[in-house]
Amino acid sequence: MKENTTSSLPARPVTESQSEMTELILPNDTNPLGHLLGGRLMQYIDLVAAMAAYRHARANVVTASMEHIDFIAPVHVGDLVILKASVNRAFKTSMDVGVKAWVENAIAGSRHHIASAYLTFVAIDANGRRVPVPPLIVEGGEESRRYEDAGFRRQRREQEKERKRQNRAAYRTAGEAAI
Ligand SMILES: CC(C)(COP(=O)(O)OP(=O)(O)OC[C@H]1O[C@@H](n2cnc3c(N)ncnc32)[C@H](O)[C@@H]1OP(=O)(O)O)[C@@H](O)C(=O)NCCC(=O)NCCS
Repeated sequence: MKENTTSSLPARPVTESQSEMTELILPNDTNPLGHLLGGRLMQYIDLVAAMAAYRHARANVVTASMEHIDFIAPVHVGDLVILKASVNRAFKTSMDVGVKAWVENAIAGSRHHIASAYLTFVAIDANGRRVPVPPLIVEGGEESRRYEDAGFRRQRREQEKERKRQNRAAYRTAGEAAI
């Protein structure tokens, strides 16, 4: 069992905030070929992930980033899209949330994986100030793997942020030298 220890709030297990959503795809959700719009799927992903983060934080949350999304197969009018979200890791005020989506054809009785994504949510109070989130209790297996992966994603984001900061500083210096 593992949990982050930066917060004094009572820790909550992953299972307590896992969230699920089902959407029936209608013509208004699709392009002229009758395929679900990517943006609409991203909206569903954002919503189900926000539900998990909201349940874990027991506070309002905002989407800070949607990190990675793979659209693996098209979704058609009349299909059901099933989305499941889990908090992978809680940091200080932010949470890494993973979403997996499947398409189900009720007539054919088939279900297959169509998309996966990782998002970060930040908990805020009524005045928009960031607030600490409860630690997450991770109970081994898949939960531990997701917890570790969330740490790598955060590390990568921090490295990228630093790289951009250095680039900006270098451009500023080059610009000043040219004047
Ligand atoms: C997300 C937001 C609250 C971050 O505020 P900020 O003052 O820039 O915060 P900081 O840089 O100090 O980081 C605060 C936390 O957010 C995380 N964070 C900030 N930007 C992030 C990003 N792009 N991706 C992932 N995490 C991010 C930080 O890692 C930090 O986490 P921690 O407290 O758990 O260590 C702020 O940028 C915001 O309000 N954005 C708009 C959110 C919104 O409206 N979303 C809907 C989109 S339409």
